[in-house]
Amino acid sequence: MVIHSAEFVISNTEVDKCPEPKLAEYAFIGRSNVGKSSLINMLTNHKKLAKTSGKPGKTQLINHFIINKEWFLVDLPGYGYAKASKTSRKKWGLFIDEYLLTRENLLNTFILIDSRLEPQKIDVEFMEWCATKGLPFSMVFTKTDKLSAVELDKKLAKYKREMLKQWEVMPPFFVTSSVSAKGRDEVMNYIAEINVA
Ligand code: GTP
Ligand code: MG
Repeated sequence: MVIHSAEFVISNTEVDKCPEPKLAEYAFIGRSNVGKSSLINMLTNHKKLAKTSGKPGKTQLINHFIINKEWFLVDLPGYGYAKASKTSRKKWGLFIDEYLLTRENLLNTFILIDSRLEPQKIDVEFMEWCATKGLPFSMVFTKTDKLSAVELDKKLAKYKREMLKQWEVMPPFFVTSSVSAKGRDEVMNYIAEINVA
């Protein structure tokens, strides 16, 4: 898919103030620091579209970006950031849950998983929550440039084994690096497929 334009639209914590839900929308979620904002920049070929940081907790709001003036990518705050105060975690839960549950034009949520880690309870529980709510999602294994090919295969195999203990099939998944742009075509083709469906 060719990206002609990628522009920031609005940031907020209120679903009512998000752009009108008239265009297809795809959101990125996952633990703090997993690489959500970096992935959006990689997919759109815009280094500074979404703000990134080495420190977890950078993205705090629902951020809409409009791509090719036709559809939205949405950067969300991370979950599981231990240093965030209880209040802000509670708020995270509330406005993100509301966004995920009520945003009628949200066609897919990409749940980002750090490819270097063992399956994390918080991610597995979040995927189960999405499934029980009937929210379509896919998994994105990030930061794969930090693993050798052999290590990556082992981690993916282990993750699949763990998932298949609970799930009948593995959800759709992608293997990415925001450094090398690995997985870009696969994610963009998936978005394009859903867009026309
Ligand atoms: P929050 O907004 O805090 O929830 O974080 P985030 O998930 O948006 O992560 P962000 O994109 O800000 O990236 C966090 C850190 O990981 C930054 O230092 C990025 O440079 C780094 N990073 C993200 N993706 C990759 C990747 O694919 N490879 C490598 N090597 N580093 C990455
Ligand atoms: Mg971020």
